[in-house]
Amino acid sequence: MLKHYLSVADLSHDEAIALLERAAILKEEWHIGVDQTSHLRGQTLALVFEKPSLRTRVAFEAGMTQFGGHANYLSANDIDMGGRESVADVARNLSRWVQCIAARVFRHQTVTELARHATIPVINALSDIEHPCQALADMLTLHEHYSDLHECRLAYVGDGNNVCNSLMLLGATLGMTVIVACPPDYRPHPDMLAQAEHLANEYEGTIAVTSVPEEAVEGADAVYTDVWASMGQEHEAARRRPVFEPYQVNAHLLSRANPEALVMHCLPAHRGEEITADVIDGPQSVVFEQAENRLHVQKALIVQLLEAGHL
Ligand code: CP
Ligand code: NVA
Repeated sequence: MLKHYLSVADLSHDEAIALLERAAILKEEWHIGVDQTSHLRGQTLALVFEKPSLRTRVAFEAGMTQFGGHANYLSANDIDMGGRESVADVARNLSRWVQCIAARVFRHQTVTELARHATIPVINALSDIEHPCQALADMLTLHEHYSDLHECRLAYVGDGNNVCNSLMLLGATLGMTVIVACPPDYRPHPDMLAQAEHLANEYEGTIAVTSVPEEAVEGADAVYTDVWASMGQEHEAARRRPVFEPYQVNAHLLSRANPEALVMHCLPAHRGEEITADVIDGPQSVVFEQAENRLHVQKALIVQLLEAGHL
């Protein structure tokens, strides 16, 4: 039984489906104004964030408010985890006051170390290796447009990064086809790819990686991209730009996908770099649906972890 959500791979197929179903119910309730404040009254979620955030932070904070609880945001300036105090001691202290930790970290090991020393659930709110909350929101968004995800072909074009890793893992767990197009030196880590391929075998999905963007996008039902330089890699941005230019999601590339293909991006976006403004602001774009769905999936995640003690 799951105690923490550090990686998409922590979720079984059934747990992933249950979470998405729960998120859809919470979303519907929220839209019709159902009072949800009895879910987590008096409970606190600590947000330990080493990097900036708009969507993840606000979705967790608003979600806790809607559930009658509270979120406590702790930036690197506040607690200097690993400097002023060890990661283990931060985990042990927080476990005495709050009911759950969501951590956004540079090194994935930091979130696993938090989980090792915490006696409460820990959620990965983004690390260098994964962005598992984002992938849940993305799959909820896709499911709202394509009822049978087994039939859905998702093309991810760009950097084989944290967002890409979690998308591959969740896509594989849900039996989808995920085709990734990356420059040869920026492919997903072989361990992540192997894990995704293993899951795809188990759940009859398909995972493939190519260096040709047109191959990934051909016939795709959704085309996804993310920034070329992630948080912490800003100093590499100038070096990466020419390498990634052929991977820009623009109208020409999108014309290879299905005519109704969804355009996806986790945001924040750099218009004119990984995606052109006409495409991200065009009629096929669902980027703000993805952003809204961060709220609903993160609420589903915390309520299931905290209400039942387990997923
Ligand atoms: N997509 C996403 O995680 O956004 P933030 O970095 O603003 O949280
Ligand atoms: N890959 C990006 C995602 C931001 C939500 C990063 O890690 O900065």
